[in-house]
Amino acid sequence: MLLLVDPYYDGLGFRVAKSLNVKLVSLVHKVFPDGESYFRIVDDVSGEKVVCLVSVFPEQDKGVLRAIFLSRTLKELGAEKVIIVFPYFPYARQDKRFLPGECVSARIVAEAVFSAGADYIVTIDVHSEDVFKPFGSRFINVRASEAWAGYIKSVYNLEDVFLIAPDKGRINYIGSIASLLGVPYSGFEKVRDLITGEIKKHEPIDPRMFEDLVNSKRIAILLDDIISTGGTAAKVAKRLREEFDGRIIAGFTHGLFLPGSVEKLIKAGVDEIISTDTVKNSFSKVTVADLIANTIRKLV
Ligand code: R5P
Repeated sequence: MLLLVDPYYDGLGFRVAKSLNVKLVSLVHKVFPDGESYFRIVDDVSGEKVVCLVSVFPEQDKGVLRAIFLSRTLKELGAEKVIIVFPYFPYARQDKRFLPGECVSARIVAEAVFSAGADYIVTIDVHSEDVFKPFGSRFINVRASEAWAGYIKSVYNLEDVFLIAPDKGRINYIGSIASLLGVPYSGFEKVRDLITGEIKKHEPIDPRMFEDLVNSKRIAILLDDIISTGGTAAKVAKRLREEFDGRIIAGFTHGLFLPGSVEKLIKAGVDEIISTDTVKNSFSKVTVADLIANTIRKLV
């Protein structure tokens, strides 16, 4: 097995390489004056199983194109198997035709990468798995629950902790982390304006459970798959802060942290921000390297 590390984010690449203890493929990469990219795979990859770790944030389109170029070139050079790892899957939130005529971009990205030659796509905490079902076992979504549970256990006193899901869609996932930790959890649901569909506020799904937790615990850990503008997490944290005077920790698997997002969290009363290392950011404390490495070991 060989590992090709994306030149744009080698921090996670380094950790995956150490965890897998594999040889790296040498890649020459440059950008021409007109902005087009050049790649050359220097090593012999014929008959090899090659894992490519591709970072897609902040330049999603270029990341997708890198995955396509590398998959096809590796196959043309005789690689036996190509596994594309997108630690953060690009366009994952555009997973339905919400309005007539829209691109279902999440599915099209996966189709393009498979058509280019990838045998598998591996990703972490994809926004929703449904759109990828047509790809069967070739599309592998790894939940970061073990990484989150390991980190939370190592840092906080679990007696004080409860987990919060920001919306109904995440409640089962947060429940699975809570059960790994043996801590309670609760969730919020979005209250929409029935006329405009706009999210007006977030309210606890189970108000009695919520009351009980805010009155008995000292640390609330709000976990979401993505932070982008920070709007969702800030609304939930603000609502939580109305009733909770303990520490509020906001954790995100994919920390995009667009400008202004951190400010929103601070204003909402968040005390600490943490994220995994699927995307390069200054709040990465939880690594997904071992989860990626373990998944790859099962595939090769
Ligand atoms: C929504 O369904 C997602 O799980 C995230 O809550 C959302 O994408 C976060 O985006 P933002 O930070 O812009 O509110």
